[in-house]
Amino acid sequence: MLHKKLVKFDNDFLWGASTSAYQVEGANLVDGKGPSCQDVKEVPEGTSDLTVCADHYHHFKEDIALMAEMGFKTYRFSISWSRVLPQGTGKINPKGIEFYNQLIDECLKYNIIPFVTMFHFDMPAALDEKGGWSCPESVEWFLEYARVLFKNFGDRVKYWLTINEQNMLTLAGQVIGALHLPKGCTNEMKEIYQQNHYMLVAQAKVMSLCHDMNPDAKIGPALNISLVYAASCRPEDVIAAQNFNAIRNWLYLDASVYGVYNNLVWAYLQENDACPEFADGDAEALKNGHPDFIGFNYYNTATCQESDGTETDNPVADQQTTGGAAGLYRAYRNEYLEMTEFGWEIDPVGFRGTIREIYSRYRLPMIVCENGIGAYDQLVDGRVHDSYRIQYLREHIEQIQLAISDGCEMMGYCPWSAIDLISTHEGMVKRYGFIYVDREEFDLKQLKRYRKDSFYWYKKVIATHGRDL
Ligand code: BG6
Repeated sequence: MLHKKLVKFDNDFLWGASTSAYQVEGANLVDGKGPSCQDVKEVPEGTSDLTVCADHYHHFKEDIALMAEMGFKTYRFSISWSRVLPQGTGKINPKGIEFYNQLIDECLKYNIIPFVTMFHFDMPAALDEKGGWSCPESVEWFLEYARVLFKNFGDRVKYWLTINEQNMLTLAGQVIGALHLPKGCTNEMKEIYQQNHYMLVAQAKVMSLCHDMNPDAKIGPALNISLVYAASCRPEDVIAAQNFNAIRNWLYLDASVYGVYNNLVWAYLQENDACPEFADGDAEALKNGHPDFIGFNYYNTATCQESDGTETDNPVADQQTTGGAAGLYRAYRNEYLEMTEFGWEIDPVGFRGTIREIYSRYRLPMIVCENGIGAYDQLVDGRVHDSYRIQYLREHIEQIQLAISDGCEMMGYCPWSAIDLISTHEGMVKRYGFIYVDREEFDLKQLKRYRKDSFYWYKKVIATHGRDL
């Protein structure tokens, strides 16, 4: 361990935690909500559907009271597009607006700042049927939805996140059931990157809209950023790591912050006849959208070695597991890192490296929107002894403090997740929360809430401004 003079966490550092609507709310077709792509997708075998989740929709007051008990300064949640606009555009669902008004007000009652994600993997099914992000109209759809949000909630919501993990939607969208290819699509890569382009343009326009409609609000992307290591100091491995860094990370941040395509990725797309088409005004829109901060999710790093040319183009296996691309890179199992029970590598030091790298490239304040460990938690006599979670979070918070001490500007930390919820593709058994929700994959029981050991630990961390870890 190197000796370093540590800078303290600011007193206004935003300690909190995150959830997303489709994974936590339940009530998925209740009170006028339209289905989203998540409600109509084929549920992975052995996992529950999204009808109930943690039933946050009906328990939000109890849940926010528990967050307040932990001392949260902020709560990052997402708004379900199809709860607000059941068809995705057009008629507004008053009950949907009412629900989010209550949720926001409940946070404010405890001085918890609502940090709102506009879109978290849940395209309204009605728009998905029309082609979802593959339609050029998707840019206008998203703008219409954004207008509804800024108009109804902008008086109280001052922090917005645009699209959760657009990079994972693009690279692993089919694994998480959130991105579809139109029937008869012949150039899959071009189609995917065209969808990605519409999202980039939509995001840029929404950032401009936010600044026009709510000048005192701040808005930023919420990407999944992981520093990519080279498997060795062989120059070819270093080039491979640069390639995957560009494909996985920098494409999205370069476009969000600088309004340009990353040159390495553009060359890769050119080689594969997969460059997106630009409509009139797209380049300008990208240049005009400016984030106020960078939101990012971090679970682990990735490691790459030189491609041997045999990789089938499968850039990632899931959000945190690297695949490969012929001629560019192949995944490498980093022997220095341990893994979670679900096979994701654990790398706290890489968190510091990731924060330093983002800051040196973009010089914007950052907030961690997700970070955490999925585990098979056990409820025994009303207690959950999740020492592994405490250890994981402690080691990551230490690295944030080191990164702050390196001169990086950090606004806050919102681990995943505030409360147990349904995983993207591994069901209810993969738990992340500070609050245990008593249900099983298929047996819903009473959905009673229990404070895990990590709940008490995080409460102490927040109370001491990160001094007592
Ligand atoms: C992120 C997503 O990729 O990781 C969350 O933004 C997700 O929606 C989280 O739940 C953990 O992933 P998983 O697959 O374990 O649920």
